Amino acid sequence: MNSLERSCVRPMSWFKREIADGVTIVRILNTKLPRFENFWPIPRGTSYNFYVVRGSEKVALIDGADFRFSKEFFEALESVVDVKEIDYVVTQHTEPDHSGTLADVMKRASGAVLLGTRQALSIGEALADFPMDRAREVEDGEELDLGGKTLRFVISPMVHWPDTMLTYLREDSILFTCDLFGSHGASEKLFYDEAPSEFELVDYYASILMPYHAMAARAVAKVRELGPKIIAPSHGALHRKLDELLEMYERWTSWKPDKKALIVVGSQYENTARAAEAAAEGLREGGLEVITVDSAEVDPDDLLAHTLESAAILIAVATHNGHPFLGITFFLDLLKEYRPKNKVAAVLGSFGWGGGGTRAVKKELEALSIPVIDELTFKGKPREEVLARARELGKRLAEEALRVIGPS
Ligand code: FEO
Repeated sequence: MNSLERSCVRPMSWFKREIADGVTIVRILNTKLPRFENFWPIPRGTSYNFYVVRGSEKVALIDGADFRFSKEFFEALESVVDVKEIDYVVTQHTEPDHSGTLADVMKRASGAVLLGTRQALSIGEALADFPMDRAREVEDGEELDLGGKTLRFVISPMVHWPDTMLTYLREDSILFTCDLFGSHGASEKLFYDEAPSEFELVDYYASILMPYHAMAARAVAKVRELGPKIIAPSHGALHRKLDELLEMYERWTSWKPDKKALIVVGSQYENTARAAEAAAEGLREGGLEVITVDSAEVDPDDLLAHTLESAAILIAVATHNGHPFLGITFFLDLLKEYRPKNKVAAVLGSFGWGGGGTRAVKKELEALSIPVIDELTFKGKPREEVLARARELGKRLAEEALRVIGPS
Protein backbone atom coordinates (compact mmCIF):
# COMPACT_ATOMS: atom_id res chain seq x y z
CA MET A 1 0.00 0.00 0.00
CA ASN A 2 1.54 3.34 -1.00
CA SER A 3 1.26 6.51 1.05
CA LEU A 4 -1.59 7.88 -1.09
CA GLU A 5 -3.59 4.70 -0.60
CA ARG A 6 -2.82 4.73 3.12
CA SER A 7 -4.05 8.30 3.45
CA CYS A 8 -7.33 7.31 1.76
CA VAL A 9 -8.06 4.57 4.29
CA ARG A 10 -10.58 5.74 6.84
CA PRO A 11 -9.80 4.70 10.40
CA MET A 12 -11.99 1.79 11.40
CA SER A 13 -15.06 3.00 13.27
CA TRP A 14 -16.51 -0.39 14.22
CA PHE A 15 -15.94 -4.09 13.83
CA LYS A 16 -17.90 -7.25 14.49
CA ARG A 17 -16.86 -10.74 15.51
CA GLU A 18 -18.73 -13.95 16.24
CA ILE A 19 -17.78 -14.98 19.80
CA ALA A 20 -19.92 -18.14 19.84
CA ASP A 21 -22.24 -19.77 17.34
CA GLY A 22 -25.01 -17.20 16.76
CA VAL A 23 -23.52 -14.64 19.15
CA THR A 24 -21.97 -11.53 17.60
CA ILE A 25 -20.22 -8.64 19.27
CA VAL A 26 -20.13 -5.28 17.55
CA ARG A 27 -17.66 -2.76 18.93
CA ILE A 28 -18.02 0.88 17.98
CA LEU A 29 -14.70 2.65 18.32
CA ASN A 30 -14.92 6.15 19.68
CA THR A 31 -11.86 8.09 18.64
CA LYS A 32 -13.83 11.27 18.00
CA LEU A 33 -14.60 12.52 21.50
CA PRO A 34 -11.72 13.62 23.74
CA ARG A 35 -13.54 12.89 26.99
CA PHE A 36 -15.88 10.24 28.39
CA GLU A 37 -19.03 11.62 30.04
CA ASN A 38 -17.67 14.91 28.72
CA PHE A 39 -15.16 14.94 31.58
CA TRP A 40 -12.77 11.99 31.84
CA PRO A 41 -9.88 12.24 29.35
CA ILE A 42 -9.69 9.20 27.03
CA PRO A 43 -6.34 9.48 25.25
CA ARG A 44 -6.76 5.96 23.81
CA GLY A 45 -10.43 6.57 22.95
CA THR A 46 -13.22 4.37 24.22
CA SER A 47 -15.74 1.95 22.78
CA TYR A 48 -19.33 0.75 23.02
CA ASN A 49 -20.01 -2.96 22.62
CA PHE A 50 -23.39 -4.37 21.80
CA TYR A 51 -24.38 -7.96 21.12
CA VAL A 52 -26.76 -9.85 18.86
CA VAL A 53 -27.84 -13.29 20.08
CA ARG A 54 -29.61 -15.46 17.53
CA GLY A 55 -31.56 -18.49 18.72
CA SER A 56 -33.44 -20.90 16.48
CA GLU A 57 -36.69 -19.03 17.21
CA LYS A 58 -35.90 -15.48 18.27
CA VAL A 59 -33.24 -12.77 17.99
CA ALA A 60 -32.15 -10.49 20.84
CA LEU A 61 -30.10 -7.32 20.82
CA ILE A 62 -28.25 -6.56 24.07
CA ASP A 63 -27.51 -2.86 24.65
CA GLY A 64 -27.02 -0.01 22.19
CA ALA A 65 -24.66 2.92 21.87
CA ASP A 66 -24.27 6.65 22.36
CA PHE A 67 -26.67 8.47 19.98
CA ARG A 68 -23.69 10.40 18.54
CA PHE A 69 -22.65 7.09 16.96
CA SER A 70 -26.09 6.25 15.51
CA LYS A 71 -24.76 6.11 11.97
CA GLU A 72 -22.05 3.60 12.89
CA PHE A 73 -24.45 1.72 15.16
CA PHE A 74 -27.08 1.08 12.48
CA GLU A 75 -24.52 0.41 9.77
CA ALA A 76 -22.97 -2.24 12.03
CA LEU A 77 -26.26 -3.66 13.31
CA GLU A 78 -27.68 -4.02 9.80
CA SER A 79 -24.57 -5.96 8.81
CA VAL A 80 -25.40 -8.55 11.48
CA VAL A 81 -29.20 -8.73 11.36
CA ASP A 82 -32.13 -7.18 9.56
CA VAL A 83 -33.33 -4.83 12.32
CA LYS A 84 -36.96 -5.73 11.59
CA GLU A 85 -36.14 -9.32 12.64
CA ILE A 86 -35.15 -8.35 16.20
CA ASP A 87 -37.64 -9.78 18.70
CA TYR A 88 -36.13 -8.52 21.97
CA VAL A 89 -34.10 -5.46 22.86
CA VAL A 90 -32.38 -5.96 26.23
CA THR A 91 -31.36 -2.78 28.03
CA GLN A 92 -28.96 -3.62 30.85
CA HIS A 93 -28.40 0.00 31.95
CA THR A 94 -29.99 3.14 30.57
CA GLU A 95 -27.15 5.64 30.72
CA PRO A 96 -27.17 7.29 27.28
CA ASP A 97 -23.87 5.70 26.22
CA HIS A 98 -25.83 2.41 25.97
CA SER A 99 -29.42 3.48 25.48
CA GLY A 100 -29.01 6.39 23.04
CA THR A 101 -29.83 4.32 19.95
CA LEU A 102 -32.50 2.01 21.39
CA ALA A 103 -35.64 4.10 20.79
CA ASP A 104 -34.69 4.18 17.12
CA VAL A 105 -34.16 0.40 17.11
CA MET A 106 -37.63 -0.04 18.63
CA LYS A 107 -39.13 2.14 15.87
CA ARG A 108 -37.47 0.12 13.12
CA ALA A 109 -38.15 -3.24 14.81
CA SER A 110 -41.85 -2.63 15.15
CA GLY A 111 -42.57 -6.06 16.64
CA ALA A 112 -39.79 -6.01 19.22
CA VAL A 113 -40.29 -6.08 22.99
CA LEU A 114 -37.99 -3.97 25.18
CA LEU A 115 -36.75 -5.78 28.31
CA GLY A 116 -35.18 -4.19 31.39
CA THR A 117 -35.47 -3.76 35.13
CA ARG A 118 -38.25 -1.60 36.54
CA GLN A 119 -35.74 1.21 37.13
CA ALA A 120 -34.32 0.86 33.61
CA LEU A 121 -37.71 1.27 32.03
CA SER A 122 -38.57 4.23 34.25
CA ILE A 123 -35.26 6.01 33.62
CA GLY A 124 -35.25 5.04 29.94
CA GLU A 125 -38.71 6.49 29.37
CA ALA A 126 -37.45 9.88 30.57
CA LEU A 127 -33.92 9.75 29.25
CA ALA A 128 -34.03 7.62 26.12
CA ASP A 129 -37.62 7.84 24.79
CA PHE A 130 -38.34 4.18 25.45
CA PRO A 131 -41.73 3.14 24.02
CA MET A 132 -43.46 1.98 27.20
CA ASP A 133 -46.30 0.24 25.36
CA ARG A 134 -43.78 -2.32 24.14
CA ALA A 135 -41.60 -2.49 27.27
CA ARG A 136 -41.64 -5.30 29.81
CA GLU A 137 -40.00 -5.45 33.23
CA VAL A 138 -37.89 -8.53 33.94
CA GLU A 139 -37.41 -10.22 37.31
CA ASP A 140 -34.15 -11.30 38.87
CA GLY A 141 -33.36 -14.84 37.68
CA GLU A 142 -35.97 -14.75 34.91
CA GLU A 143 -35.02 -16.69 31.79
CA LEU A 144 -35.81 -15.96 28.16
CA ASP A 145 -35.68 -18.80 25.65
CA LEU A 146 -34.62 -17.73 22.15
CA GLY A 147 -34.53 -21.33 20.91
CA GLY A 148 -31.38 -23.13 22.06
CA LYS A 149 -30.09 -19.87 23.56
CA THR A 150 -31.31 -18.96 27.03
CA LEU A 151 -30.79 -15.52 28.52
CA ARG A 152 -30.96 -15.28 32.31
CA PHE A 153 -31.30 -11.81 33.82
CA VAL A 154 -29.31 -11.09 36.97
CA ILE A 155 -30.40 -7.84 38.58
CA SER A 156 -27.39 -5.97 40.01
CA PRO A 157 -28.46 -2.47 41.05
CA MET A 158 -25.98 0.40 41.42
CA VAL A 159 -23.38 -0.98 39.06
CA HIS A 160 -23.41 1.83 37.94
CA TRP A 161 -26.99 3.13 38.24
CA PRO A 162 -29.95 1.63 40.13
CA ASP A 163 -31.29 0.18 36.87
CA THR A 164 -28.48 -2.25 36.16
CA MET A 165 -28.65 -5.94 35.33
CA LEU A 166 -26.30 -8.53 33.90
CA THR A 167 -27.38 -11.08 31.30
CA TYR A 168 -26.10 -14.64 31.29
CA LEU A 169 -26.21 -16.69 28.11
CA ARG A 170 -26.43 -20.13 29.64
CA GLU A 171 -25.56 -22.43 26.75
CA ASP A 172 -22.39 -20.52 25.79
CA SER A 173 -21.45 -19.46 29.34
CA ILE A 174 -21.10 -15.82 28.29
CA LEU A 175 -21.96 -13.13 30.81
CA PHE A 176 -22.87 -9.68 29.46
CA THR A 177 -22.01 -7.14 32.14
CA CYS A 178 -22.50 -3.64 30.69
CA ASP A 179 -20.31 -1.26 32.77
CA LEU A 180 -18.98 -3.91 35.15
CA PHE A 181 -15.48 -5.00 34.04
CA GLY A 182 -15.58 -2.31 31.33
CA SER A 183 -12.49 -0.54 30.05
CA HIS A 184 -11.60 2.42 27.86
CA GLY A 185 -9.55 2.13 24.70
CA ALA A 186 -10.66 2.18 21.06
CA SER A 187 -8.87 -1.10 20.44
CA GLU A 188 -9.47 -3.66 17.74
CA LYS A 189 -8.19 -6.40 20.05
CA LEU A 190 -11.09 -8.45 21.32
CA PHE A 191 -9.74 -9.81 24.61
CA TYR A 192 -7.94 -7.96 27.37
CA ASP A 193 -5.14 -10.55 27.56
CA GLU A 194 -4.26 -9.91 23.89
CA ALA A 195 -3.15 -6.32 24.59
CA PRO A 196 -3.62 -5.11 28.20
CA SER A 197 -1.84 -1.83 27.43
CA GLU A 198 -4.52 -0.88 24.87
CA PHE A 199 -7.23 -0.86 27.54
CA GLU A 200 -7.71 1.29 30.63
CA LEU A 201 -9.30 -1.09 33.10
CA VAL A 202 -8.36 0.42 36.44
CA ASP A 203 -9.02 4.02 35.30
CA TYR A 204 -12.47 2.92 34.18
CA TYR A 205 -13.26 1.20 37.49
CA ALA A 206 -11.87 4.08 39.55
CA SER A 207 -13.74 6.86 37.78
CA ILE A 208 -17.04 5.11 37.06
CA LEU A 209 -17.68 2.30 39.55
CA MET A 210 -15.59 3.09 42.62
CA PRO A 211 -18.34 5.05 44.44
CA TYR A 212 -20.48 1.89 44.15
CA HIS A 213 -17.78 -0.48 45.40
CA ALA A 214 -20.09 -2.36 47.79
CA MET A 215 -22.65 -3.12 45.07
CA ALA A 216 -19.88 -3.94 42.63
CA ALA A 217 -18.50 -6.43 45.21
CA ARG A 218 -21.94 -8.09 45.40
CA ALA A 219 -22.10 -8.30 41.64
CA VAL A 220 -18.62 -9.86 41.51
CA ALA A 221 -19.74 -12.48 44.05
CA LYS A 222 -22.71 -13.30 41.78
CA VAL A 223 -20.32 -13.62 38.84
CA ARG A 224 -18.24 -16.14 40.82
CA GLU A 225 -21.41 -18.16 41.51
CA LEU A 226 -22.39 -18.15 37.85
CA GLY A 227 -18.89 -19.16 36.74
CA PRO A 228 -18.99 -17.85 33.15
CA LYS A 229 -16.26 -18.68 30.65
CA ILE A 230 -16.35 -15.26 28.97
CA ILE A 231 -17.21 -11.85 30.38
CA ALA A 232 -18.54 -9.46 27.77
CA PRO A 233 -18.88 -5.86 28.98
CA SER A 234 -20.43 -3.03 26.96
CA HIS A 235 -17.17 -1.04 27.00
CA GLY A 236 -13.79 -2.24 25.83
CA ALA A 237 -12.16 -5.62 26.19
CA LEU A 238 -13.80 -8.99 26.67
CA HIS A 239 -12.28 -11.21 29.34
CA ARG A 240 -11.45 -14.92 29.37
CA LYS A 241 -8.76 -15.07 32.09
CA LEU A 242 -11.37 -14.71 34.74
CA ASP A 243 -9.50 -15.71 37.89
CA GLU A 244 -7.10 -12.78 37.42
CA LEU A 245 -9.92 -10.39 36.59
CA LEU A 246 -12.13 -11.38 39.51
CA GLU A 247 -9.24 -11.29 41.98
CA MET A 248 -8.34 -7.80 40.76
CA TYR A 249 -11.92 -6.61 41.13
CA GLU A 250 -12.18 -8.19 44.58
CA ARG A 251 -9.09 -6.24 45.66
CA TRP A 252 -10.47 -3.01 44.28
CA THR A 253 -14.01 -3.37 45.62
CA SER A 254 -12.71 -4.24 49.10
CA TRP A 255 -10.22 -1.33 49.02
CA LYS A 256 -7.20 -3.57 49.52
CA PRO A 257 -4.27 -1.29 48.63
CA ASP A 258 -0.94 -2.22 47.07
CA LYS A 259 2.45 -1.35 48.58
CA LYS A 260 2.25 2.04 46.92
CA ALA A 261 2.34 5.67 47.97
CA LEU A 262 0.76 8.47 46.01
CA ILE A 263 2.29 11.93 46.28
CA VAL A 264 0.09 14.68 44.90
CA VAL A 265 2.07 17.86 44.45
CA GLY A 266 0.59 21.34 44.33
CA SER A 267 3.64 23.57 44.12
CA GLN A 268 4.06 27.00 42.52
CA TYR A 269 7.81 27.66 42.75
CA GLU A 270 9.23 24.18 43.46
CA ASN A 271 9.76 24.70 47.20
CA THR A 272 6.92 22.35 48.16
CA ALA A 273 7.96 20.01 45.30
CA ARG A 274 11.52 19.74 46.69
CA ALA A 275 10.25 18.75 50.10
CA ALA A 276 7.96 16.21 48.40
CA GLU A 277 11.01 14.65 46.72
CA ALA A 278 12.67 14.23 50.10
CA ALA A 279 9.49 12.61 51.46
CA ALA A 280 9.48 10.30 48.44
CA GLU A 281 12.97 9.09 49.39
CA GLY A 282 11.71 8.28 52.88
CA LEU A 283 8.70 6.42 51.49
CA ARG A 284 10.94 4.35 49.22
CA GLU A 285 13.32 3.61 52.10
CA GLY A 286 10.24 2.46 53.98
CA GLY A 287 9.47 -0.11 51.27
CA LEU A 288 6.79 1.54 49.15
CA GLU A 289 6.64 2.19 45.44
CA VAL A 290 6.11 5.92 44.98
CA ILE A 291 3.94 7.57 42.33
CA THR A 292 4.35 11.33 42.20
CA VAL A 293 1.87 13.42 40.21
CA ASP A 294 1.60 17.14 39.59
CA SER A 295 -1.89 18.24 40.60
CA ALA A 296 -1.92 20.83 37.80
CA GLU A 297 -1.53 18.28 35.03
CA VAL A 298 -2.60 14.82 36.16
CA ASP A 299 -5.76 13.39 34.57
CA PRO A 300 -8.52 12.97 37.15
CA ASP A 301 -9.14 9.30 36.33
CA ASP A 302 -5.42 8.55 36.78
CA LEU A 303 -5.55 10.40 40.09
CA LEU A 304 -8.44 8.22 41.25
CA ALA A 305 -6.78 5.03 40.02
CA HIS A 306 -3.56 5.84 41.90
CA THR A 307 -5.60 6.70 44.98
CA LEU A 308 -7.39 3.36 44.77
CA GLU A 309 -4.16 1.38 44.60
CA SER A 310 -2.12 3.34 47.17
CA ALA A 311 -2.02 2.73 50.90
CA ALA A 312 -0.29 6.06 51.62
CA ILE A 313 -1.24 9.48 50.35
CA LEU A 314 1.10 12.38 50.80
CA ILE A 315 -0.26 15.77 49.86
CA ALA A 316 2.40 18.36 49.16
CA VAL A 317 0.60 21.66 49.11
CA ALA A 318 1.65 25.26 48.71
CA THR A 319 -0.57 27.93 50.21
CA HIS A 320 -2.34 30.02 47.58
CA ASN A 321 -4.32 33.11 48.65
CA GLY A 322 -4.60 31.57 52.11
CA HIS A 323 -6.03 28.31 50.71
CA PRO A 324 -4.58 25.05 49.47
CA PHE A 325 -3.11 25.28 45.97
CA LEU A 326 -5.92 24.96 43.41
CA GLY A 327 -4.95 21.55 42.03
CA ILE A 328 -5.04 20.14 45.56
CA THR A 329 -8.49 21.64 46.19
CA PHE A 330 -9.66 19.73 43.12
CA PHE A 331 -8.08 16.50 44.45
CA LEU A 332 -9.87 16.99 47.78
CA ASP A 333 -13.16 17.46 45.91
CA LEU A 334 -12.57 14.15 44.14
CA LEU A 335 -11.85 12.45 47.48
CA LYS A 336 -15.09 13.86 48.93
CA GLU A 337 -17.09 12.31 46.12
CA TYR A 338 -15.22 8.99 45.90
CA ARG A 339 -14.62 8.43 49.68
CA PRO A 340 -11.51 6.20 49.57
CA LYS A 341 -10.90 3.70 52.37
CA ASN A 342 -7.85 2.00 53.89
CA LYS A 343 -5.51 4.95 53.46
CA VAL A 344 -3.14 6.81 55.72
CA ALA A 345 -1.91 10.31 54.90
CA ALA A 346 0.58 13.05 55.63
CA VAL A 347 0.69 16.66 54.55
CA LEU A 348 3.58 19.00 53.91
CA GLY A 349 3.96 22.37 52.26
CA SER A 350 5.59 25.75 51.95
CA PHE A 351 4.09 29.18 52.42
CA GLY A 352 5.40 32.64 51.60
CA TRP A 353 3.67 34.99 54.02
CA GLY A 354 0.37 33.72 55.45
CA GLY A 355 0.16 29.93 55.44
CA GLY A 356 -2.95 27.87 56.07
CA GLY A 357 -2.76 25.42 53.12
CA THR A 358 -1.44 22.39 55.02
CA ARG A 359 -3.77 22.97 57.99
CA ALA A 360 -6.83 23.12 55.72
CA VAL A 361 -5.81 19.93 53.87
CA LYS A 362 -5.27 18.03 57.14
CA LYS A 363 -8.71 19.07 58.34
CA GLU A 364 -10.35 17.95 55.10
CA LEU A 365 -8.61 14.57 55.14
CA GLU A 366 -9.61 13.94 58.74
CA ALA A 367 -13.21 14.84 57.90
CA LEU A 368 -13.00 12.04 55.31
CA SER A 369 -11.79 9.63 58.04
CA ILE A 370 -8.34 9.42 56.46
CA PRO A 371 -5.87 9.52 59.36
CA VAL A 372 -3.12 12.12 58.98
CA ILE A 373 0.05 11.06 60.77
CA ASP A 374 1.66 14.50 60.67
CA GLU A 375 1.80 17.90 59.02
CA LEU A 376 5.05 19.62 58.06
CA THR A 377 4.78 23.31 57.29
CA PHE A 378 7.71 25.57 56.44
CA LYS A 379 8.27 29.10 55.28
CA GLY A 380 9.91 29.70 51.91
CA LYS A 381 12.62 27.35 50.67
CA PRO A 382 13.09 23.95 52.29
CA ARG A 383 16.49 24.06 54.03
CA GLU A 384 18.46 20.93 54.93
CA GLU A 385 16.70 20.59 58.26
CA VAL A 386 13.26 20.72 56.56
CA LEU A 387 14.35 18.18 53.94
CA ALA A 388 15.55 15.81 56.67
CA ARG A 389 12.18 16.14 58.44
CA ALA A 390 10.34 15.51 55.16
CA ARG A 391 12.42 12.34 54.59
CA GLU A 392 11.63 11.21 58.10
CA LEU A 393 7.92 11.97 57.55
CA GLY A 394 8.01 9.77 54.43
CA LYS A 395 9.56 6.91 56.41
CA ARG A 396 6.97 7.12 59.17
CA LEU A 397 4.17 7.28 56.60
CA ALA A 398 5.52 4.10 54.97
CA GLU A 399 5.52 2.32 58.35
CA GLU A 400 1.88 3.26 58.94
CA ALA A 401 0.92 2.28 55.38
CA LEU A 402 2.47 -1.17 55.82
CA ARG A 403 0.26 -1.60 58.90
CA VAL A 404 -2.81 -0.69 56.78
CA ILE A 405 -1.75 -3.20 54.10
CA GLY A 406 -1.22 -5.94 56.68
CA PRO A 407 0.65 -9.20 56.16
CA SER A 408 0.84 -10.28 52.51
FE1 FEO B 1 -21.35 2.92 30.29
FE2 FEO B 1 -22.86 3.83 33.17
O1 FEO B 1 -22.71 3.64 31.32
